[in-house]
Amino acid sequence: MQLQRKHEKHGFSIEEVIGCLEKAIPHYEKVNKVISFGLGPRMRKQAVELAGIQPGFKVLDLGCGPGVSSVIIAKKLGRGELFCLDASDRMLKEAKNKLLPYKGVNKKFIKGFFEELPFPNSSFDVVFASYSFRDSLNKLRVLQAIHRVLKENGTVVILDVFKPLNECITPLSSLYIRYLVPAISKFISMNFRDVSPWSLFYATFQEMWNFKTFLKFFTVYFKPEIVKSRLFLFFLVKGVKV
Ligand SMILES: C[S@@+](CC[C@H](N)C(=O)[O-])C[C@H]1O[C@@H](n2cnc3c(N)ncnc32)[C@H](O)[C@@H]1O
Repeated sequence: MQLQRKHEKHGFSIEEVIGCLEKAIPHYEKVNKVISFGLGPRMRKQAVELAGIQPGFKVLDLGCGPGVSSVIIAKKLGRGELFCLDASDRMLKEAKNKLLPYKGVNKKFIKGFFEELPFPNSSFDVVFASYSFRDSLNKLRVLQAIHRVLKENGTVVILDVFKPLNECITPLSSLYIRYLVPAISKFISMNFRDVSPWSLFYATFQEMWNFKTFLKFFTVYFKPEIVKSRLFLFFLVKGVKV
């Protein structure tokens, strides 16, 4: 099956998504922290904690980006193996630099797409995805791919921003993401001339499932063990391969 390269509804391409994310790299952590009122980084730490990573595990960080979660994972792994996958060379380079001090961990940096993971079946103890699942263009295919590469009883943790379950909150969150987030990012980067790379967040958010829809598909492949939500938008789920 061919990789879908453009989203049918909003027409943005995977290259556009990745291009915007790359432009966001210099202020990524700060913007993330401010727009989520500090919750984004806190939930990331919590997600790694809940993944149950043990020394010696083989872990895939799906959409590692600049390696913010990868570093927290590396601290847990000891002499384990960490595979950082991303479609962007620049992100992989950033992640590689961040992970330099973790010499004991066997690290691999792989360029690839979520929808067609370049690994054999049953490869990983844990697949971890923080704030990356929503960027994929074919979410169902990503769930299938994660299921395929996980070992029997392997664990998947997905942390992301989903459309709120309460329909009344959706317009408010849409307004926030569409107008305030790009404005905040402009202030943080002190760049008022260019279009904010965070503008595409609104488009990817529009394409995102609500958490109920996510769980409907997630439970086809995984048994949910932990489900947490914060501020109506942030959802974290831990599941085991069935
Ligand atoms: C918002 S960043 C999240 C980075 C990191 N996981 C974190 O917690 O901050 C999403 C990352 O996923 C990558 N990405 C998005 N869609 C992808 C796809 N379909 N296949 C592979 N990588 C993708 C982007 O290049 C980007 O680095």
